[in-house]
Amino acid sequence: MVRWTPRIVAELNWRGARVAESACLESTCAGNGTVGSNPTLSATGLCGDADRWCRMTSPYYSKQNFDLYWADSLEFLPKIPANSVDMVFADPPYFLSSGSFTCQNGRMVSVKKGDWDLSSGTEKNFAFHLAWIRECRRLLKPNGTIWISGTYHSIYQCGFALEISKFHLLNDIAWFKPNASPNLSCRFFTASHETLLWARKEKNAKHTFNYQTMVDWENNYRKKVRCSRCGKSTCDEILHAKGRQMRSVWAINTPQRIEKTFGKHPTQKSVELLNRIVLASTNKGDVILDPFTGSSTTGLAAHLFERRFIGIDNEKKYLDLSIRRFDELDKNMEKKTSFQQSLP
Ligand SMILES: C[S@@+](CC[C@H](N)C(=O)[O-])C[C@H]1O[C@@H](n2cnc3c(N)ncnc32)[C@H](O)[C@@H]1O
Repeated sequence: MVRWTPRIVAELNWRGARVAESACLESTCAGNGTVGSNPTLSATGLCGDADRWCRMTSPYYSKQNFDLYWADSLEFLPKIPANSVDMVFADPPYFLSSGSFTCQNGRMVSVKKGDWDLSSGTEKNFAFHLAWIRECRRLLKPNGTIWISGTYHSIYQCGFALEISKFHLLNDIAWFKPNASPNLSCRFFTASHETLLWARKEKNAKHTFNYQTMVDWENNYRKKVRCSRCGKSTCDEILHAKGRQMRSVWAINTPQRIEKTFGKHPTQKSVELLNRIVLASTNKGDVILDPFTGSSTTGLAAHLFERRFIGIDNEKKYLDLSIRRFDELDKNMEKKTSFQQSLP
């Protein structure tokens, strides 16, 4: 039984797929490219090595170039053929979870995103980032690029890992969040930005940057971010100037309530952020990979703009959330259209 859909194997020209296929021992584990295609998985969850192989080699969900894999990326990425992916967007664990509290929508909430976000100490955290970043470099096409998001808890480690893996840095984007939650302790500045690193695989490669699309984005930017003190929309104008090049500071709110209709992911990214990234750095038909897909915000943007998507997460509940979000987008073509029309 072929574990990867023939389309993926053909399109990615994956010779290594044979190894994965022959290693799959579980006869009931048969991916047929639909939701819950794998009864072993959906019914029982983990049940040993055979099941783990199945999870890694048949998609948990596959529809219209939107494929989700339930796997640990450190194990899964080496199975992807070299030079097969156009762009990686990675939002890896920040390893910032602790026993402390933060403020969210006026409420005190624990700073624990999940066990996957607990720090294992500086050296182990770095080894983790280095391992997946090296794999991403191998699987990217020569002119491919990688985006990594993070805060100071992780982004310097990722930046260093990029450098020693011989990536060539293109930008460090400051994602400013105008609606960031206040700081409860009042002992330091309120964290209100994340950093996005953008790098290309090869120093001298010609990577994709849709420059004019970004200029047009600025030209057509309609959204008003009203200043809570003076009531004017000045903040918006500082960061968006018509006819100018797009700069490296992006003012984008954290996900809106409507983006959490189908459930919450503790570190969900804004659709607007991923729309911008996908439009800026990929073309129609490109393969986009997200090794820490969570609720698959990357996948939604990929689908919306007709890119192919592979998302990986080791938590089933997040893949299920991804499917609900994807189905809604896919089913409702009107919504898709209005989504596009509402783009700046
Ligand atoms: C920061 S979140 C990504 C959120 C995502 N960008 C979104 O918009 O929803 C990181 C995700 O990585 C997953 N994860 C952590 N370690 C992993 C690993 N080794 N392999 C695969 N997924 C992992 C977690 O389950 C979590 O959903």
